[in-house]
Amino acid sequence: MLLGVLCILVVPQVFSEAPPAPPQDIQVDNWLLRWSPDPDHGNVTYTAQYSSFDSDVWTDVPYCVHTSLNSCNVSSIKARSVYGCVMLRVQAERHGQKSPSVQACSTHGDLCTPDFILTASPGSLTVHLSRNTTFLRKKADHAKYRVYYGKKGEALQGYKDGPASVTIDELQEGQRYCTRVQYLYFTRTEGLPTCTQCALIPESDSRRTVSLVLVGGVLLLVFPVIAYFLLFQRWRFKRWLQPRYTFPEHLPEPLPEPRLPVPSSTEEHYDVITSMSPE
Ligand SMILES: *[C@@H]1O[C@H](CO)[C@@H](O)[C@H](O)[C@H]1NC(C)=O
Ligand SMILES: *[C@@H]1O[C@H](CO)[C@@H](O)[C@H](O)[C@H]1NC(C)=O
Ligand SMILES: *[C@@H]1O[C@H](CO)[C@@H](O)[C@H](O)[C@H]1NC(C)=O
Repeated sequence: MLLGVLCILVVPQVFSEAPPAPPQDIQVDNWLLRWSPDPDHGNVTYTAQYSSFDSDVWTDVPYCVHTSLNSCNVSSIKARSVYGCVMLRVQAERHGQKSPSVQACSTHGDLCTPDFILTASPGSLTVHLSRNTTFLRKKADHAKYRVYYGKKGEALQGYKDGPASVTIDELQEGQRYCTRVQYLYFTRTEGLPTCTQCALIPESDSRRTVSLVLVGGVLLLVFPVIAYFLLFQRWRFKRWLQPRYTFPEHLPEPLPEPRLPVPSSTEEHYDVITSMSPE
């Protein structure tokens, strides 16, 4: 009994203290970190963290701890990133409950983030990447690119590595695909990934021709059928189009004498019935 009362009192409390939604669209542009806030709730604060190139330890970015703003100047970690690339992530918090952390992406290429141009052709995407960047020159043979890809709206789970431009084949035509690129050093990704870019995979000429032939074929089949019906089966159409009258088996009982004034149409109806009654 007591347990039941306790449950009723405590359970709603637990539910009201659910962690906040994770921040969305976390982007870095020239050391300014920005994110979209949770639109539904107040009292949410955000904390940015960075991790250095050589460790998995995440450290709070100075001046970016428990801020209620949607942005934070992270230039204080610039000095720390001189010797290597840093990663950044942001976490939301409300009343001590923390959301999962979400990684930031970089809107522009820099020392630690690649620059790329995306082009789409029938069935494939090409991510154009330079072979001559500061990162690749510094790390010599052990560095390359990792290109993540996936259908728009899905997690970018597939990836392909390469020392320069990468082409991803066997993509579904007419679908939108997205990519994100990050530097890879030995087997470890380094620095901020690029923000996601998406492109529509165009349909190939041969596929378009096949579609046209199919549509043409269907029309060729359908036209003679319609023509036949119009020419020789016109009476059938007429019969189908005619309204069908069925007389009710039992006529409705005569309406009780109206007590209120009724519209004229009903009066006429009433007159007809009285004229038929035997006198
Ligand atoms: C924020 O929290 C305070 C106390 O914890 C509460 O009084 C206030 O209503 C909350 N505001 C919002 C918008 O949830
Ligand atoms: C960030 O802070 C640094 C140093 O305090 C300053 O030089 C820079 O202009 C700031 N950047 C932005 C975008 O406010
Ligand atoms: C690579 O880029 C650097 C600086 O942008 C340039 O000086 C150098 O000539 C380039 N090397 C090649 C092989 O293109």
